[in-house]
Formats: sequence, structure tokens, C-alpha cells
Amino acid sequence: MTPGAFTAAPLLRCRVPRGVYAPQADTLILRQAMRREGIMSGTDVLDLGTGSGVLAVDAALRGARVTAVDISWRAVATAWFNALLNCGTVRVRHGDLTAAVAGRRFDLVVSNPPYVPTPGGGAPRGAARAWDAGANGRLLIDRICDASPAVLRPKGRLLIVHSHLCGIDDTLMRLKRAGLDAEIVDRARLPFGRVLRSRLAWLREQGLTADETTEELVVIRAEHP
Ligand SMILES: C[S@@+](CC[C@H](N)C(=O)[O-])C[C@H]1O[C@@H](n2cnc3c(N)ncnc32)[C@H](O)[C@@H]1O
Repeated sequence: MTPGAFTAAPLLRCRVPRGVYAPQADTLILRQAMRREGIMSGTDVLDLGTGSGVLAVDAALRGARVTAVDISWRAVATAWFNALLNCGTVRVRHGDLTAAVAGRRFDLVVSNPPYVPTPGGGAPRGAARAWDAGANGRLLIDRICDASPAVLRPKGRLLIVHSHLCGIDDTLMRLKRAGLDAEIVDRARLPFGRVLRSRLAWLREQGLTADETTEELVVIRAEHP
């Protein structure tokens, strides 16, 4: 485990239109963990919720065979364009998480899913689909934990990043229940961003935060036996 800092080395050349998630601290900390996984020529990588495609392209430029999935058509087009811009080959698929790759298995699955606790019910819409994730922030995280064994090869690994606000132990337990060996491999503490600051009163009401205005990002690594 590497507590604290993460490298903010520059990302690839990457265009991000309005409505697509611009790479941020969570992208960078996940990229750092991904690069430790020994990606080589022919490693099959799946990027769930690819957004701008920056992680998918990074893996592709290291020789991986990459499939990138997003529910947003705008993100799909952006990931495709950014792959082209960096001369990387990425299969970009539109769809809902692993449903878009039914029947396929991968050596490495990476995901920076929406994980921000969100007041009110209803499915997230528009650009907020990149971060809104239900009252406890786990709408997508739980689905990814449950679906991972079916898309991982033996010894395949999942790397998922999220905030402590949506329950680190819940993710570890859920992955263990799904039959994977899970551990935290990176941590970084950051000030609340714009969305969390705008929800501060509600977060306090929910008991999700007290007086602190920082969150801890964690990368959890889970391995298929
Ligand atoms: C936090 S952004 C991460 C983007 C990029 N991977 C990064 O790290 O910068 C989450 C992405 O998940 C996508 N997403 C949300 N729900 C999804 C779903 N059900 N299936 C696939 N992608 C989804 C959003 O459109 C968004 O692009």
C-alpha cells in the first residue's frame, strides 16, 4: 500500500468536450495503480466507464488489447477520438458496464465509476452520470463488484477507485463475497471538489461526513483466484 501522494505526471494528449468527465485525481491515482500491473503486449484490459478514454489509451500504448465501455455516447465518441489522436488501438463499446462485453474475459479490469453520494432518487442524467451514484454512492460500485468474477480470467485483477464516503469496507466485503481476494493498494486525501462542496449540508445530515471537508480516495485491487 502506498499512502499519500500520487503522481500527477501529465496525461496523454486528450480532448475532453463538455459533458464528458475530464481526467482528475481519481483518474491519476487509478492510472498509477494500473501501470504497476505489468501490462504487456497482449494483456487483455477492460476499462469500465471510460469517459475520455485516457486510461484505455494509456494501457493500449503499453501494448494491451483494450476494450473500453461507456453508457454515454458522447464519452464513446471521445474515447474513440482520443485513441486515434494518440495512435492507440482501443475497441470502444457503448453499453451498460459488463453487459457490453458479455461472454468475454480479461486479465485486468479498471474502473473509475460514478461514486458520489447523491440526494433524491431517480437515475442520474446528463453529465452527472459521470459522478452521481445514488444515496450511498454505491449504485455502480456494487454492480461492478458483483459482475467482476464473470469477466476476469483466473488470476485476473480488478482495480477500482472510489471515495471513503461510499464505504471502503463495503467494497472489500462485497468483493470477498464474490470470491475475490481484495485489498487497498493506494490512498490519497484531497479537499472536497465542487460537487461534494455543494452537497455538504446534505452529507452532514446523512452522517456521511462531520466537519471534515476532505475525502480519501482509495484504489482497491481484487484478484480472481
Ligand atoms: C468518473 S467518470 C470516469 C472516466 C474515466 N475513466 C476517468 O477515469 O477519467 C465515470 C464514467 O462512467 C460512465 N458510466 C456511468 N454509468 C455507466 C454505466 N452504467 N455503464 C458504463 N459506463 C457508465 C460515465 O458516463 C463516465 O464516463
